[in-house]
Amino acid sequence: MKFHSSAYAASLLAAALHSGVASAAYDTSKSPLLLLSNDSTMNFDLLTPLGESITGGGDVGPILAAAKDVKAGNMTSFTEVFYKLANDTKAQAEDPDNAYDPVNVRDTWFSAAGYFRKADNYLHGNWSNPLIESLWDEQLDAFNKGIAALPIPGKRIRIPATKGNFTVEAIWYSASESKHKKLPTLIIGNGFDAAQEDSYHNFVAPSLARGWNCITYEGPGQPTVRRNQGLGFIPDWEKVVTPVVDYVLSEKKDVVDSTRLILLGNSMGGYLAARAAAFEPRLSAAVLIDGVWDNYAAYARELSPELLAIYEAGNYTQFDDVLLSAREAGKLPTGAAWGIDQGLWAFRTHSPSDFFTQIKSYNVESFIHKIRIPVFVGDAELESSYIGQPKQVADALGHRATLHTFKGAAGFHCQTGAGQELSRTIHAWLNKTFNNTGDGH
Ligand SMILES: *[C@@H]1O[C@H](CO)[C@@H](O)[C@H](O)[C@H]1NC(C)=O
Ligand SMILES: *[C@@H]1O[C@H](CO)[C@@H](O)[C@H](O)[C@H]1NC(C)=O
Ligand SMILES: *[C@@H]1O[C@H](CO)[C@@H](O)[C@H](O)[C@H]1NC(C)=O
Ligand SMILES: *[C@@H]1O[C@H](CO)[C@@H](O)[C@H](O)[C@H]1NC(C)=O
Ligand SMILES: *[C@@H]1O[C@H](CO)[C@@H](O)[C@H](O)[C@H]1NC(C)=O
Ligand SMILES: *[C@@H]1O[C@H](CO)[C@@H](O)[C@H](O)[C@H]1NC(C)=O
Ligand SMILES: *[C@@H]1O[C@H](CO)[C@@H](O)[C@H](O)[C@H]1NC(C)=O
Ligand SMILES: *[C@@H]1O[C@H](CO)[C@@H](O)[C@H](O)[C@H]1NC(C)=O
Repeated sequence: MKFHSSAYAASLLAAALHSGVASAAYDTSKSPLLLLSNDSTMNFDLLTPLGESITGGGDVGPILAAAKDVKAGNMTSFTEVFYKLANDTKAQAEDPDNAYDPVNVRDTWFSAAGYFRKADNYLHGNWSNPLIESLWDEQLDAFNKGIAALPIPGKRIRIPATKGNFTVEAIWYSASESKHKKLPTLIIGNGFDAAQEDSYHNFVAPSLARGWNCITYEGPGQPTVRRNQGLGFIPDWEKVVTPVVDYVLSEKKDVVDSTRLILLGNSMGGYLAARAAAFEPRLSAAVLIDGVWDNYAAYARELSPELLAIYEAGNYTQFDDVLLSAREAGKLPTGAAWGIDQGLWAFRTHSPSDFFTQIKSYNVESFIHKIRIPVFVGDAELESSYIGQPKQVADALGHRATLHTFKGAAGFHCQTGAGQELSRTIHAWLNKTFNNTGDGH
């Protein structure tokens, strides 16, 4: 049945357009920053590579030039601009004169990798688009050359899950050459869309600089596992984190201080990390950037009340038809279009109603009381999806939680664009928390 031609469906559509599905969308009129695009979602997606450039993930001028070239709201244009920048940067990396020292090598390859990742940002609406694979192969290749040129090279690890038929994709980064010095260690995971290669720039580089080992990982639904193993997200995320903890405490036992083993979750990873922390007793603390209570509430608030009512009445055919035909007709704002594309791809479904039904399981209420470790709960003043949720998480955790609200220019979702303030705040909390609790328990 097709409803999108009826006047009724048209009004539903109009009502559905008011905001973005994606957590990346926010009201640009409230932006404390100079805008990089008049499209709020693209503004955010231009701020992410700029934010990663403070730790070598890109260069400021080229990203601002890209921002100038991207046509606001035109996804094809965004892809082309970053694909070209990635190609040009790759050519610079391949110049034989560039290979003379490892700093040149890692700067150019990390930047090329970051630009290839950005070129992939808006591609997931058509699962058959060959660029989904080819741009990712380019970014993996470029990033691997970058980590090979670090003072202590990063090492790719594949960890088979013991519960579930999948393999965790991880990268181990040592903070010291010593084979016997036990150091505090961060286990770092993203959420809905970011890659573990982004985590190097956002979390690993600042943590290595402070003497922390790091391991980044991806599970089902996340970029490389989604591609190579064809798997969508699962809610019981301890199935992903426990094998990583097993790996760290066995293979790396001589260099890991097991009393300071911290799990960090970024974006929707605020849910995933909380879930793992509730079921994995060997962690010493958790850091949620930011706190997430209920993903269904976060996504449902982006729908108009009329559209939500159709879903909640169980009229899934109509719900899917309205959303998919609006998407196909190019009638959704960038944030909503991207959110549907990414949500369907990452949860491996072609049905928006199925996505909404799956996402209902991504709620901390039933297990949050099981968390017995100190938790840093971030909140962002300009957060547009998980509004009020960090406080809910902190309230439920009681004395175990430290709620910190990032404000002003650091107030975007995941503190994008303010990586320095984010790292300073996290590490100051870790230092204080572990000093105050003696041995970390
Ligand atoms: C945004 O729109 C205004 C007014 O149309 C225009 O002057 C400005 O150049 C645009 N900025 C960007 C970054 O596209
Ligand atoms: C979007 O950008 C692409 C590439 O720059 C261009 O070919 C296309 O015409 C643009 N589409 C619209 C609707 O402006
Ligand atoms: C980037 O380079 C590839 C070849 O490696 C080419 O196929 C593609 O068209 C280039 N893309 C752009 C936007 O320049
Ligand atoms: C999806 O991509 C494939 C491969 O490029 C192409 O053949 C197909 O027409 C695309 N589908 C849509 C709906 O654009
Ligand atoms: C595990 O997954 C692989 C492919 O990813 C598949 O070939 C195999 O049949 C699966 N095994 C089980 C027990 O589901
Ligand atoms: C679903 O929506 C269609 C179109 O509005 C309507 O005809 C149908 O009765 C609805 N079905 C249910 C079970 O509500
Ligand atoms: C906290 O910082 C101080 C000063 O740098 C350092 O001596 C101490 O080891 C740190 N403690 C922890 C638990 O990281
Ligand atoms: C943390 O503990 C270290 C010794 O382990 C001490 O040198 C440092 O001053 C303490 N820092 C704070 C902030 O208490």
